[in-house]
Amino acid sequence: MLIRMLMKPLLTFLSLVLVLLGLVAPAWADFALPPLPYAADALEPAIDATTMTIHHDRHHAAYVANLNAQIATNPDLKSLSLEALQTQIGRFPVAVRNNGGGHWNHSQFWSVMAPQGQGGEPSAELLAAINSSFGSLEALQSQFNQAAAGRFGSGWAWLIRKPDGSLAITSTANQDNPLMDLPGIERGTPLLGLDVWEHAYYLKYQNRRPDYIAAWWSLLNWNEVNRRFAAAA
Ligand SMILES: [Fe+2]
Repeated sequence: MLIRMLMKPLLTFLSLVLVLLGLVAPAWADFALPPLPYAADALEPAIDATTMTIHHDRHHAAYVANLNAQIATNPDLKSLSLEALQTQIGRFPVAVRNNGGGHWNHSQFWSVMAPQGQGGEPSAELLAAINSSFGSLEALQSQFNQAAAGRFGSGWAWLIRKPDGSLAITSTANQDNPLMDLPGIERGTPLLGLDVWEHAYYLKYQNRRPDYIAAWWSLLNWNEVNRRFAAAA
């Protein structure tokens, strides 16, 4: 009898310990931090392991935790996928916009990178669309680099597929993205997004954002960009 009485509080305590240790997602946490799809040092030397670890384990984790903290006061969040949330972010408070955007943006960011030599090449279909919209892959890269380097303060550079099927380069501030239903945002389906917040590069590159951007191209996971392009068509 005593054992049965003690069992429930003991299990509750053990569950809490596991949650605090980060080993188990709490039942109320609808959004979860995805693991990196490679080791933290797999993108060396372009992006160092310390930056990757802090970026994923602290910055991205904080966006997820802060978004989950918004569920109590915004119960609609429980019925929305992370992607669906982006398309109706305008009806939520700015804390949901910043943290929901931060969670989606970083989740795609990890997936559009791969260790050097493992990202494949643009598919024939994607290359045809790139040539049609920009003239060449080099022209796309040049325009993208300008958008990424020219974003004042913190934000993102994007390659998007617009509703008319053409491709375009755009840039957003803070943790906004092209899926969001907000004024001033050029909307479209993101095929790839580059994080140009200082937390993404400052340890290795300090103020040399263009050097980070140039090195980042060597990490591009074209296989994932091809998949996103095919899914958006
Ligand atoms: Fe970031």
